[in-house]
Amino acid sequence: MKHAHDIAATDIAYNVHPYTNLSLHEQQGPLVIDRGEGIYVWDDQGNKYIEGLAGLWCASLGFSEPRLVAAATKQFERLPFSHSFAHRTNEVTTRLAAKLIDIAPAPMAKTYFVNSGSEAIDTAIKIIWYYNNGMGRPEKKKLISRKRGYHGVTVAGGSLTAIPLMQNDFDLPLDRMMSTDTPSFYRCGNPGESEDQFTDRIVHNLEQLILNEGPETVAAFVAEPVMGAGGVVLPPANYFAKVQAVLQKYDILLLADEVICGFCRTGNWWGCQTYDIKPDIITCAKQLSAAFLPIGAVMISAPIYQTLVEQSKKHGAFGTGNTYGGHPVACAVALETLAIYEERNIIEHVRDVSTTFLKRLMQLSDHPLVGEARGVGLIGGLEIVADKETKASFDPATKAAFKVTQRAQANGLLVRPLPSDSIGICPPLIISHDQINDLFDRLHTGLDEGLRELTG
Ligand SMILES: Cc1ncc(COP(=O)(O)O)c(C=O)c1O
Repeated sequence: MKHAHDIAATDIAYNVHPYTNLSLHEQQGPLVIDRGEGIYVWDDQGNKYIEGLAGLWCASLGFSEPRLVAAATKQFERLPFSHSFAHRTNEVTTRLAAKLIDIAPAPMAKTYFVNSGSEAIDTAIKIIWYYNNGMGRPEKKKLISRKRGYHGVTVAGGSLTAIPLMQNDFDLPLDRMMSTDTPSFYRCGNPGESEDQFTDRIVHNLEQLILNEGPETVAAFVAEPVMGAGGVVLPPANYFAKVQAVLQKYDILLLADEVICGFCRTGNWWGCQTYDIKPDIITCAKQLSAAFLPIGAVMISAPIYQTLVEQSKKHGAFGTGNTYGGHPVACAVALETLAIYEERNIIEHVRDVSTTFLKRLMQLSDHPLVGEARGVGLIGGLEIVADKETKASFDPATKAAFKVTQRAQANGLLVRPLPSDSIGICPPLIISHDQINDLFDRLHTGLDEGLRELTG
């Protein structure tokens, strides 16, 4: 097809692709996605795929929700742009701010809008620093994330994204940013150690890190309830309870990064509810608008907000802002998205279909390539190993998880390879039991074909 060839050639000539091997891309070119409907997308050759990662963990309502198109159109016609600088506001931005506070998983006072998860994290970090300066403790600035945690790509967020590929040669992390253990019992537990002992050990390591740095210098701990892009790592039981006890002891804020977990993904509105996390600050994005438009938000507690008020008196204004933060069309779409989640009882739907999702996911534990299968709600991960007994990984140059995902793609399923040779599965929340079975049939075929390729 000439048309398809033109797109591929133009793409290779002009487009720099994020998280892509650019050299390989020049040889093999792009997968051109042409249209979507429900949980499916089609490429420009007419091949149909299940979008097994909801795009990038975000297209919760699939790829053809007419109510979101209507909400955007209505708002485009009424007021396509307005902003929130210097006391200005509009109806939909205001209503969305209030709605988020209403459904927040912990007492939150205010919402601040941005356009992406990375901007949410960077703004949250600025707020934390501004807060501690306002509190008269300018030395309390360090931030602790977890290895394999993903918190975006901007200079500050990328410093908390403790994954080597995403920091090496970008001169990240910045100082003030450090990381502690990944809560992966499967990958990081010692031989003979129980899961509880593992949790105690890594929480002890966190406390030691805080003591070594000096608690008076540590501002916040930053965590996803379930680590997503780092390989879908679920916290062990009691992990967050124990972490929160340490944070309280040293007066350290907890920033919950709900960019993936927020909005029903784990079977509750928030991952914080699934894991009984009580944060001081929350970042969210992605499923907030079902990915139909870019929008992110930071929610802050009352004590933090009060400091911002004092700081803005001192400086003359709260000195930060994004042109498109609280964009009315994005807010209108987000409000409609939240209305759909409520009217269609998406939380109950996720809890219902996740029985099939988790059953089929866990069955893959028996596959020779799968070291661990793990999941909650409608998010799952597979860790690909060369040897199930020893948990030995394939040589990274083998790109084992990538090869399996390529085989899945050839069988009509889009899923993503992630660090630690994991594969992420995170379909649109509207997926049905039958579609989940179809997804796992295709994934199983991908694993079988991958096995033949890797061992044949
Ligand atoms: C937990 C988490 N935080 C932050 C981000 C960054 O969001 P964005 O890609 O919208 O900047 C992501 C993106 O995947 C994420 O998963």
